[in-house]
Amino acid sequence: MVKRILKFLLLTVVSLLIIILAFYAFVSWDFAQRANQSYSYEAHAPEVVYDSTNLVLGKHLAIIKGCTDCHGQDLGGKVMIDDPALGRLVPSNLTRGEGGIGAQYSLQDWVRALRHGVGPDQKPLLFMPAHETANMTDRDMSALLAYCTQVAAVDQQLPQLEIRPIGKLLNFFGKMHMFPVEMIDHDFLPPADMDKSVSPAFGEYLAVSCTGCHYSNFKGGSPQIPNSPPVADITSSGNLARWSERDFIQALRTGQTPEGKHMQNEFMPWQMTKEFTDEELKSLYIFLKNQP
Ligand code: HEC
Ligand code: HEC
Repeated sequence: MVKRILKFLLLTVVSLLIIILAFYAFVSWDFAQRANQSYSYEAHAPEVVYDSTNLVLGKHLAIIKGCTDCHGQDLGGKVMIDDPALGRLVPSNLTRGEGGIGAQYSLQDWVRALRHGVGPDQKPLLFMPAHETANMTDRDMSALLAYCTQVAAVDQQLPQLEIRPIGKLLNFFGKMHMFPVEMIDHDFLPPADMDKSVSPAFGEYLAVSCTGCHYSNFKGGSPQIPNSPPVADITSSGNLARWSERDFIQALRTGQTPEGKHMQNEFMPWQMTKEFTDEELKSLYIFLKNQP
């Protein structure tokens, strides 16, 4: 009797193992297919002018778009996450230094990366949030490129990016976006410029940078970053309904919410949002508060 039960248990465990392995083999195959897909996009580069207005705006954009958060203050790249189960995420060295892409990248290559999420080899850039830069006006793109292509060279050779089993599974279930190229409307024609005085339209333009974590409806949900608290609803159905403009600006500049919560920068990047100008934060506030 005991022998029969043991045999039954063993069979169950073995079959379960086989099912799990077969499922993971599929996930892994799907990942490899998507990572190896070739995308050929014609990237049109705006004219890049290296004057002080452009460089100041470009630096501001590099901060508020999170480039410096992921690629390092000096854009010299860094290992962002190295987890044995999840993988190693390595935002590249963007400078002209050794190990950097700056010396090889043409302006077209930059625009292809930022508007389409694709590298010069036509393969998808992994985890690089191009869906948050694809909508930039030509004016902003030009300023950002002026700043990025003239930063001081940093010599830094970084290890290869590598996505391991948990990273592939999270990507498969849509919990971590490894392929921003698949999230972009590639026919979108960027506007030449936009009015940057306080308005919901300007807020909407900026809020693209919040969608990676707060989702495209800004209602929040399960987080993209391991160990992060759940992502808050930042529309009128969340706490924002009760917040004044001052409360909102204070939360995004100090990490301190009116409800007394102190948000950790590694999960809700307020060190980045604190750099937004007053006009930018006011516009975000009007736009988000008007979201049903
Ligand atoms: C959430 C983190 C994150 C943010 C924010 C981010 N990047 Fe990246 N970026 C990455 C990662 C990771 C890679 C490496 C992708 C790969 O190797 O497949 C990358 C790759 C790139 C590349 C291609 C480099 C190469 O190796 O070919 C460029 C160009 C780039 N980023 C520019 C930018 C700029 C400019 C910004 C700001 C507008 C920015 N990135 C914001 C994570 C980020
Ligand atoms: C890297 C992910 C990430 C990004 C990018 C991000 N957020 Fe958040 N945000 C979070 C998380 C996680 C929380 C919840 C933090 C907590 O509970 O401690 C949060 C909380 C907030 C809150 C507080 C809400 C409340 O009810 O307490 C506001 C306001 C907010 N985010 C606004 C923004 C805006 C505006 C942007 C874009 C400019 C943005 N966030 C971008 C992850 C992110």
